[in-house]
Amino acid sequence: MPATTHSTNSPYHPSILATGATGNLGREIVGRLRSHGARVRCLARAQTSPQPGVEWVVGDLTAPGTVREALVGIDAVFLIWPLLDSAAARDLIAELTTAGPRVVYLSSSAVDDEAARQSDPIVQVHADMEALLHDAGLRPVVLRSDTLASNARGWVQQIRAGDVVSGPETARTAVIDERDVADAAVAVLLAHHDQLDYDPHVLTGPEVLGRADQIALLGAALRRDLRFQVLPADLARSRMLADGRPGPLVDALIAASGRRPDCHRVTDHVERLTGHPAGTFARWAIDHAAEFN
Ligand SMILES: NC(=O)c1ccc[n+]([C@@H]2O[C@H](COP(=O)([O-])OP(=O)(O)OC[C@H]3O[C@@H](n4cnc5c(N)ncnc54)[C@H](OP(=O)(O)O)[C@@H]3O)[C@@H](O)[C@H]2O)c1
Repeated sequence: MPATTHSTNSPYHPSILATGATGNLGREIVGRLRSHGARVRCLARAQTSPQPGVEWVVGDLTAPGTVREALVGIDAVFLIWPLLDSAAARDLIAELTTAGPRVVYLSSSAVDDEAARQSDPIVQVHADMEALLHDAGLRPVVLRSDTLASNARGWVQQIRAGDVVSGPETARTAVIDERDVADAAVAVLLAHHDQLDYDPHVLTGPEVLGRADQIALLGAALRRDLRFQVLPADLARSRMLADGRPGPLVDALIAASGRRPDCHRVTDHVERLTGHPAGTFARWAIDHAAEFN
């Protein structure tokens, strides 16, 4: 895979539409785009406080009219698809096809090109989205991200309450710092066309970790003896529902925790895209320790 040159010094200042811009990853992307001098428009479902140099538009990925307006004058789109139904993306894809921007799609490292069906519903949606974008002739740049380190924010309440974090058994994965995914996304959003590689970029962190490893590393950063306790799927399911998560999402997460195989793959694609190696979860834990106090 040829490297995509990081465009920090590029004179190319495209207009970028960022979806998911209020999320853990999107926030990192927006800040970087601004510092590189790109014109940034963000799509969010609710009115957001103004930020210097960032245009916010209220819209929904499933509402084609709002997407159409958001795409006016846009050169490149950072696209996430946080829904569990790829069929609901057909109108969005039609709008993208009409407007014709570069599409950078944030997919999952668990997508298996050889599999007829993916391991679980969440990975299946990403595989379906990739296929829909390709079939529409959009020629997306696909970033297949491993588990984001920022998912650990979901443990904040448990860590504040005690030393045991419980949850369903999940696969071991090469957890990636979302700041590295943001650097990679910005590199491809700002790159010149002839610098792009359209093979999927598989973005991983530098080591394969289970939940227990992550909790122990957070404990080290917090100077506490934190432990992970596996919950049986039915108990994990009822706790997630009690926390207010939507039923279909809970079902998909439980299915993913039971079916997704351990992933032992670590790639150098972050470094190829950004010029720097991927950071460790230990580093993420130190940098974000204050959020858990
Ligand atoms: N977390 C992981 O480990 C992982 C791994 C691989 C890929 N991904 C992909 O990365 C995406 C972003 O992850 P994240 O952790 O940054 O997510 P996050 O913090 O949960 O943020 C989700 C974002 O999705 C937006 N959103 C949800 N439904 C929307 C809709 N119908 N229309 C428009 N925007 C909508 C939300 O915006 P508003 O609520 O403000 O509208 C928010 O900005 C995920 O959705 C997933 O597809 C995640």
